[in-house]
Amino acid sequence: MRAANDILCHSGIVKSPMKVFAVSDLHADYRENLDWIDSLARDRYREDVLLLAGDVTDELRLLGSTLRALKSRFAEILFVPGNHELWIDGGDFSCSLEKFDGVMSLCSHEGIRTGVYTQGCVSIVPLLGWYDFSFGQSDAFLQRAWRNFWACRWSAEFDLEAKICDFFLRQNDRYLSTDDAHVISFSHFLPRFEVMPTAIPENRRKVYPVLGSARLDHQIRKLQSAIHVYRHSHINQAIEIDGIRYLNNAFASPKEARIAREKLICIFDTEAVLSVLAGENRRESA
Ligand SMILES: [Fe+2]
Ligand SMILES: [Fe+2]
Repeated sequence: MRAANDILCHSGIVKSPMKVFAVSDLHADYRENLDWIDSLARDRYREDVLLLAGDVTDELRLLGSTLRALKSRFAEILFVPGNHELWIDGGDFSCSLEKFDGVMSLCSHEGIRTGVYTQGCVSIVPLLGWYDFSFGQSDAFLQRAWRNFWACRWSAEFDLEAKICDFFLRQNDRYLSTDDAHVISFSHFLPRFEVMPTAIPENRRKVYPVLGSARLDHQIRKLQSAIHVYRHSHINQAIEIDGIRYLNNAFASPKEARIAREKLICIFDTEAVLSVLAGENRRESA
């Protein structure tokens, strides 16, 4: 094990043991979901990182208390807002961009990371996004049914969803030139529709146009992510496409137990990497 430790420390892969957990779409507005957060062990994750990719709640006060509850359990929380965080119907904000700024300020105040986190040669990169209809065109059904269209409001310059998406993707540009050995990225929105399970029937695909943006995947490929964690679709999935492992583990609403309700999953564990390297080292010296 000493040799493997040396390899990791020498290469800068890791400075101290770290597990990276992920969960999403906590939708803390449901009492059952809040109870689950409250039930998380207080001492078990003190060395660990949690990726939280949006849709915690549209309620800023509840977002603050949920983030605090999680921060008290983990060493680091990394967060990107989802679409629910930008809903402003019935709230104090004049537009969703103003609320986005409010959410980011809240994160900064609570010690929640919204930028790149690097430990040794492992970099975790949060990627903002939106949808731009690159997965399909909106139709009358979606215009009626998709709450975002009226729960979010934008200034005149954002008259197309693609312009909103441009704005958020541009924020990611500053993070795309990492040359770390191991990149884990995460986003709320989907980077490609192929991550959706092929078994989904055609009549259930009407929401695909608002799931994400193919341009997000270009950014993930530029980053050369080993793992990309995405959310928003509330359908759990783990699939490898062209060398990148895409994972979705939404917590979602209580009535989505059949397709979601995934709790914490560990997506990266330095000790597991250490034991693989230790095995390789033993084989080489045999
Ligand atoms: Fe959600
Ligand atoms: Fe969402």
